[in-house]
Amino acid sequence: MKKDLISIKDLSAKEINDIFALTDKLKRDKGKYSQALKGKTLALIFQKPSNRTRVSFAVGMFQLGGTSIYLSPEEINLGVRETIKDVAKTLSRYVDGIVLRTFAHQNAMEMAAHAQVPVINGLSDLSHPCQGLADLYTAKEKLGKLRGITLAYVGDGNNNVTHSLLYCASKLGVNMNVAAPKKYEPDSDVVKQAKEFAALSGAAINLYNNASDACENADIIYTDVWVSMGQEKEAAKRRRVFKGFQVNKKLVSLGEPGCLIMHCLPAHRGEEITDEAIDSKNSIVFDQAENRLHVQKAILIKLLGKG
Ligand code: CP
Ligand code: NVA
Repeated sequence: MKKDLISIKDLSAKEINDIFALTDKLKRDKGKYSQALKGKTLALIFQKPSNRTRVSFAVGMFQLGGTSIYLSPEEINLGVRETIKDVAKTLSRYVDGIVLRTFAHQNAMEMAAHAQVPVINGLSDLSHPCQGLADLYTAKEKLGKLRGITLAYVGDGNNNVTHSLLYCASKLGVNMNVAAPKKYEPDSDVVKQAKEFAALSGAAINLYNNASDACENADIIYTDVWVSMGQEKEAAKRRRVFKGFQVNKKLVSLGEPGCLIMHCLPAHRGEEITDEAIDSKNSIVFDQAENRLHVQKAILIKLLGKG
């Protein structure tokens, strides 16, 4: 049966660790996998802008001996020019996998339900699984372990990146503190599920409405934009509400000595993070961005190749 990657919630800890182990191999020995997806084609359907996701998937396919086709919002015009179901069924006759960046998470689920080929969620309003996986892979690479470390997320709790981090952390035994203003806390269903996963892995999931409390003794402080793609009309209000949730030198000083700084990028410098923090020696944001490529290559081999 074909496998999709729509949410980290659907992956077991073993499956995540297998992706990480293959990523290690891919990073060590590039040449070995240069034909792993020979003759395969990946469709990239994007309804929102992208730098990292689009480029890393296209380059990843190329490095694995395959190719990719980018389909812009205007070209596919999902649900307007054609239904998701018809797009899924048609593309399944041409390509070996589909990456979809979309608004409603339901769109990604619908695409997966109707496609005969694997579908990868390249970001929906609810989750960003490739980001969450690359982030915790990077954390492991830098800290040498995951179990028992504490990741503090500061800012918009109710967004795709936070949700995927909650799933990935709770599955892997990583403690996660989320600091967000009231009404911007993570989705309550996601928190409930993450707490269930955490009970099995031994992780702690804590929610705060105050940035300092969440960052005390953190090994990693993570943030994302205050205004996600599609929320542009709320920008002015969000900038007011999130004012006390900026990652800056003072906040980082509350973490463990050497506390790492992460951001999925793109960053709005001077809003959710200061230049000083993102450019500091403890910032690992570009290693994190690079690992999107390596982790996604592992995902592509698992889903489109012989695994
Ligand atoms: N982090 C991330 O997904 O970046 P893009 O929006 O540029 O793809
Ligand atoms: N939360 C951000 C993530 C971008 C990678 C957004 O959805 O715009």
